[in-house]
Amino acid sequence: MRSDAESDEANWLDFNRRLDAHFPTLYRLFESLYGDRNDWQEQLTQLVLLAARSWVARPPELKEVDDDQEHDIAWYLSNKALGGVCYVDRYAENLEGLRSRIPYFKELGLTYLHLMPLFLAPEPNSDGGYAVSSYREVHPGLGTMVQLRELAAELRSAGIKLVVDFIFNHTSNEHLWARKAAEGDSRFSGYYWIFPDRTMPDAFESHAREIFPDDHPGSFVQLDDGRWVWATFHSFQWDLNYSNPEVFRAMAEEMLFLANQGISVLRMDAVAFIWKQVGTSCENLPQAHLLLQAFNAVCRLAAPSLLFKSEAIVHPDQVAEYIDPGECQLSYNPLQMALIWEAMATRDVSLLSQALERRHNLPEGTSWINYVRSHDDIGWTFADEDAAELGINGFEHRRFLNSFYVNRFPGSFAHGVPFQDNPRTGDCRISGTTASLLGLETEPEAAVQRILLAHSIILSTGGVPLIYLGDEVAQGNDYGYAAEPGHEADSRWVHRPHYPADSYAKRRDPSTPQGAVYSGLTELISIRAATPEFEGTCLVDFRTGNRHVLGYQRPGEGTAVLVLANFGDSPQAVAPAVLSGFNRTAANLLTHEQENMDAGIELAPRSFVWLRVAYAN
Ligand code: GLC
Ligand code: GLC
Repeated sequence: MRSDAESDEANWLDFNRRLDAHFPTLYRLFESLYGDRNDWQEQLTQLVLLAARSWVARPPELKEVDDDQEHDIAWYLSNKALGGVCYVDRYAENLEGLRSRIPYFKELGLTYLHLMPLFLAPEPNSDGGYAVSSYREVHPGLGTMVQLRELAAELRSAGIKLVVDFIFNHTSNEHLWARKAAEGDSRFSGYYWIFPDRTMPDAFESHAREIFPDDHPGSFVQLDDGRWVWATFHSFQWDLNYSNPEVFRAMAEEMLFLANQGISVLRMDAVAFIWKQVGTSCENLPQAHLLLQAFNAVCRLAAPSLLFKSEAIVHPDQVAEYIDPGECQLSYNPLQMALIWEAMATRDVSLLSQALERRHNLPEGTSWINYVRSHDDIGWTFADEDAAELGINGFEHRRFLNSFYVNRFPGSFAHGVPFQDNPRTGDCRISGTTASLLGLETEPEAAVQRILLAHSIILSTGGVPLIYLGDEVAQGNDYGYAAEPGHEADSRWVHRPHYPADSYAKRRDPSTPQGAVYSGLTELISIRAATPEFEGTCLVDFRTGNRHVLGYQRPGEGTAVLVLANFGDSPQAVAPAVLSGFNRTAANLLTHEQENMDAGIELAPRSFVWLRVAYAN
């Protein structure tokens, strides 16, 4: 046993080492963000003191995790990494209930659990928890901070990393800072973007996009005293003003508080919007990256194993810009998500294939979070330039996809609901659960195949697959939201159902769609975990010569896994000539049989194969 004095000494030595390594970066970032403000050095000094205090207070068991991670290969590159996401209240009532689901999470093989926002937020105006009024308190209906800490520890011993949101672009209008600002306190007014009249709001709005037009037009809402405050999302979510270094310091404090509760990954909410500058779109500005890098540097000082996942649902070029070991090590993959849906609707894999070919590979030490759908709407965030190369008009194509998924297109199998339908701009996004969007209600057999097909892509392209819990038992839409206070005007609640107990009860009966999805999916999960080629994110393109069949390769040592996936509604073939670069026999990882490829490969409608191939010499 080390004495207290010794371990105190070790703590400080360790902090010193971190300071030596990372302070120059933090200093440089802070200076370029805030160098023209006369309080920047004072705020920076406070920030370092805060990091030191937070490090000293960091529980020893988390410091062990920090140590392990410094020496381990990144856990998120493992082919065994698997994520799940759920709302605590909807999925399990409260944190206690969630604890009792840990055995199920282990059954499924989760190594990563994202709990939707669970901090104090006023009801019913909480945007599902995304309007936080205190980052230090758990929503009383869900439990306490002590329970959250205990849950994190219990998950850790079950091999599951806890992921929560860092909702740092905005706070609730009921956060103490916002209440002070609304009262006219000048210090706290400076925490937000508040203007006395319409001059600046008009100037900003002439370049910024509307995000929640159903709630309010433009980006600003008026306060009782006549002033205007920036609210990108709902009128009760006020954007923080990061041009004020005190805001950075204050939010860094909240971040480190969360880190010390045992959180492994912070989902960095709405990263695109965190920096504003008049005359620009106020999205994805260079300073947004500097801010994230500065937050990241603070973590390296005081919570070294904490990682960031970027939530940037924007143009794919810009999504990529957030992904860097020194910025966000992880990122949602909204392009792959959207194009899985696109290929399902068109039965044509051209866009998806092009995206995998040119936009999938990532810098070393970073990874995708691949998902079929999330708690949010599906937006068609492919690049118009990419589509144009394939002769596709982006605007028209989005119109088609929207009408397909809300079942206004003849022959559509989808049962979706429009989200933020904006007739003025023609913009619209889609709500619905995976099963309902893929036709479970009307064509169950085909829907089961489509659900497995969609998940087979996120399980095999490379990155951490993230399952929206309940989708693994084919949960359907929940139209009850229309009667729920605070939810009625937000169609995203249609795909945030309560724990589907009936569906879970059927999961062991493969004659039901629920059981068929569950057994199919768990089989894929275990095959993936046993397939070393699926480690990491590296993907090599493979053209199948058939526009219904997606192909790609995952290289391993001396072998590769060739994935072929038929998005068509009829049987499709991949010709022998296309496969001529490989040895004649391949191991079919799904059937555990040898496949002879002399006659090419035949794929049933909506089916896929994972083939271990060797290159012919
Ligand atoms: C993110 C969340 C979304 C929320 C918004 C505002 O995009 O995913 O649910 O409405 O941020 O916080
Ligand atoms: C995100 C996206 C937007 C999405 C919203 C929440 O930040 O940019 O498309 O609808 O948040 O749903």
